[in-house]
Amino acid sequence: MACHDHDPSHPHAHEHDAAHRPCQSNPAGGGCGGQGACQTLSKAPSSSRRTFLKVLIGLFAVVWAGLTAFPFLRFLGSGNPADEAAQVASVALGKVEAFPPGSAKNFQFGNIPALLVRGQDGVFHAYNAVCTHLGCTVQYDNAEKNIVCACHGGVYDAATGDNVSGPPPKPLAPLKAEVKDGTIVVSHA
Ligand code: FES
Repeated sequence: MACHDHDPSHPHAHEHDAAHRPCQSNPAGGGCGGQGACQTLSKAPSSSRRTFLKVLIGLFAVVWAGLTAFPFLRFLGSGNPADEAAQVASVALGKVEAFPPGSAKNFQFGNIPALLVRGQDGVFHAYNAVCTHLGCTVQYDNAEKNIVCACHGGVYDAATGDNVSGPPPKPLAPLKAEVKDGTIVVSHA
């Protein structure tokens, strides 16, 4: 009988099978010729697989930590807009002649949006241009002579900043507008 023919009646059938069985962990089917050799062949891929999994888990942990920390770090670095506005003492907006009665200008006061309006009477008014409803930036409506918020139709009085219609619950926060040496200067009220 050939060596590879299986004969269960053979007295050393089990030893024979064990000796000639292809290595379980070697899919290429190569015989390993004995238990010790099998262990050697199966240990290497399993160990490198474990190392790969550890590296993969480590990478996931680093990415997860980065994603979790990013918004927090950004919050710490960004600062409060009101605080940054408070650090700005004043903003010069140009010569008075550049603002005829009935004109207006949106500008930045620190990092908050602001609005300068010159009424028909020639008086200057300045406001924090953040709508008191949900925070959109308001604009001067030259046709209606008032300040409007395009988001939900809020309307403010251009001369006082009072909320006159729509959803805004309170007036615009005032800033101080004054003329210094022929220049319009806006500062904290
Ligand atoms: S945000 Fe201005 S009316 Fe709603």
